Amino acid sequence: MNWDAILAPYKQAVEELKVKLKGMRSQFEFESSHSPIEFVTARVKPIQSIIEKAELRKISMDNIQTEMQDIAGLRVVCQFVEDIYTIVNMLHSRSDFTIVEEKDYIANKKESGYRSYHIIIEYPVETIHGKKIILAEIQIRTLAMNFWATNEHSLNYKYAGRIPSEIKSRLQRASEAAFKLDEEMSMIRNEIQEARRFFRRK
Ligand code: GTP
Ligand code: MG
Repeated sequence: MNWDAILAPYKQAVEELKVKLKGMRSQFEFESSHSPIEFVTARVKPIQSIIEKAELRKISMDNIQTEMQDIAGLRVVCQFVEDIYTIVNMLHSRSDFTIVEEKDYIANKKESGYRSYHIIIEYPVETIHGKKIILAEIQIRTLAMNFWATNEHSLNYKYAGRIPSEIKSRLQRASEAAFKLDEEMSMIRNEIQEARRFFRRK
């Protein structure tokens, strides 16, 4: 496998999309309105993870580019749940990529307690051999959802996917608490945003 050649367009796409999403953030700040984006992260899936996932999912190496949707991964982290839907709507109206799939794990949280909004896009990358369309996954979540997901991910890693049931139920309770936190923050969202505008003026 020539991984450098395979991953090059993904690296390109991830860098481009990172610039674009961060650009949205600065534009909101420039226009001094509340930014629905707190921060953006991006990564190309490590080769070892691609190989492991392909084995687990019985995806042949010839099909990873069509069947593995998260080789290019972007994450948009927001303060409020409402911000997530603002971002989703904005992504819908863009013309530089096509949305091919959406998973709303906020309306339908996963068994684990995981919540996030996922958008899978087809993104065209210009290479020296012409246009190449790649798949990328954009995860949109609140700070609270992100806190939960990163901790759960660490535990999954530690226990090799077999988290003891006692810790699992703790995680489910923590997910409920994160949900409550998001709800409570939404209730006082206007107050928080006013306070932020006030501090920016000073
Ligand atoms: P993978 O989960 O990526 O193997 O593929 P899938 O087709 O099942 O897609 P899904 O939408 O379930 O998950 C896509 C990505 O969302 C994962 O790679 C993770 O980054 C994230 N994710 C999904 N479920 C969980 C979860 O229970 N905990 C955490 N921490 N992340 C999750
Ligand atoms: Mg999954």
